[in-house]
Amino acid sequence: MGSRILVSKRIYPEAVEYLCERADVEYHDSDKSYPAEELLRHLSDKEGVISQLTDRFSEEVVAALPSLKVIANVAVGFDNIDVEAATRHGIAVTNTPDVLTQTTADLAFALLFAAARRVSESERFLRAGHWQGWGIDQFCGSDIHHSTLGILGMGRIGQALARRANGFDMRVVYHDAVRAPEDIEQELRLTFVPFETLLSEADFVSLHVPLVPTTRHLMSTPQFALMKKTAVLVNTSRGPVIDEVALAEALACEEIAAAGLDVFENEPDIQPKLLELENVVLTPHIASASHTTRSKMCMMAAENALSALAGNRPPNLINQDLFPDLG
Ligand code: DGY
Repeated sequence: MGSRILVSKRIYPEAVEYLCERADVEYHDSDKSYPAEELLRHLSDKEGVISQLTDRFSEEVVAALPSLKVIANVAVGFDNIDVEAATRHGIAVTNTPDVLTQTTADLAFALLFAAARRVSESERFLRAGHWQGWGIDQFCGSDIHHSTLGILGMGRIGQALARRANGFDMRVVYHDAVRAPEDIEQELRLTFVPFETLLSEADFVSLHVPLVPTTRHLMSTPQFALMKKTAVLVNTSRGPVIDEVALAEALACEEIAAAGLDVFENEPDIQPKLLELENVVLTPHIASASHTTRSKMCMMAAENALSALAGNRPPNLINQDLFPDLG
């Protein structure tokens, strides 16, 4: 009998098949996450779990699972897991970087476009039967080409977005806790600026930071006040990076022009004030949602779990301290 693995929620069938050929798998073939207590119950005898960002692994949860050896998250983000607690309990935590970089950057750019050119708003207008014919000032938005894009967080996805911006002759400024290597700055024509400068100079601000205590509500009233009144804010990172109530207010009183959001503070609940606004484009956390990418993410998580359970250092290990000798 192989290692016991729980797949906590529906994943792509090829990954389920791959896992079933190599391990003893319990598959929760549902789009709904188990409630916390049920998850614990299903995990009580498991050594590994293929988890998703809707599963919470707190200190309390990992402490209650002595047989668990690996949490293989099907996401690049892992803010749903208390990694320090997992490390203390000897549990490997893995994620799925790289495979979703381009797909996520595509959606960030799509949101930027849709918000700037009022795509959703004008489609709603048309579908409602309000269109009476072409008009000189109908749904005028702002130009993307030759504008300034401010990227907050110059990791893999930030860089992929910068590449796209180069193709549209945009000036790209960025801010990050750690400055990008010089060759990357040159290749992508990036200008490193202080956070406040980015906010005041950018026509578009796109967020690509992980959710950690220092990035929670990184964007709130004082930051919106620094932005141009014509600026557009895009978020494909994590919802709590933005103070949604403050954003709804900034959009309502036209402190900033528009926003494109794929992630939300309390998913799947959406701040009701945002739903009332025309100048915000909302998508349901789909940045990595192409079939190819999602399938790759599932396969990658499966590989990570099996590798850890075979006693190896999994390819996408987050808590490196667990394998210090091999580091
Ligand atoms: C991630 O991977 O962290 C995304 O939010 C889901 O693809």
